[in-house]
Amino acid sequence: MIREIITYPNKLLKQKSQDVEVFNENIHVLLEDMYETMMSKNGIGLAAIQIAEPLNILIINLPNQDDKQVKEDVIEIINPKIVDKRGSTLYTEGCLSVPEYYEDVERAEWIKVEYHDRNGNLVTCEYDGLMAIAFQHECDHLKGELFIEKLSYLKRKKFEKEWKKKLKGKK
Ligand code: CO
Repeated sequence: MIREIITYPNKLLKQKSQDVEVFNENIHVLLEDMYETMMSKNGIGLAAIQIAEPLNILIINLPNQDDKQVKEDVIEIINPKIVDKRGSTLYTEGCLSVPEYYEDVERAEWIKVEYHDRNGNLVTCEYDGLMAIAFQHECDHLKGELFIEKLSYLKRKKFEKEWKKKLKGKK
C-alpha cells in the first residue's frame, strides 16, 4: 500500500525511531509499504519515520548498471549501526521529505555497518560510493535529523526563506 510521505517541517520527522524487536509479518508488510511508497515517488531510499512509523527501518534501492531500479536490488535494513567510517565525500542530496530541494552534503566516504534483515539475521557490510551516502542519509532520519541540518548557516537561511514561500504558494 502506498502511504503518505510526511514532509518538512512536520515535527514527526524530528522523532527518534526505536529498534525493531520482533521480526514478524507486521514488519514485512511495513517493508512492502515502504517499497511501494518510495517507488511511487522515484526515490532511492526511505526511512520508516518518513511514513510516520518511528521504527529503525530503512530501505535503499540504487539503480543498477543499466540505470534501472529493480526490486531484487532493494536492501532492507533494520536496526542499522555504523560501526566504522573513513574519508569524506561531497554529494548533491535530495530527500522525499524535502521535495524538490537539492544541496551538497559532506559525509564519510566509506562505512562499515551492521544491521538485521527482515528475518532478524545479523548482516555486516562495507559500503562506499552512493550506497554509503544513502545509508548515512537514511540513518540520520532514524535519529530525527534531515540533510538540511547539515547546511551552512547561510544556505540554511536561504532554504528556510524559499521553503516558506513554497508552502505559502501551495495554500
Ligand atoms: Co531523506
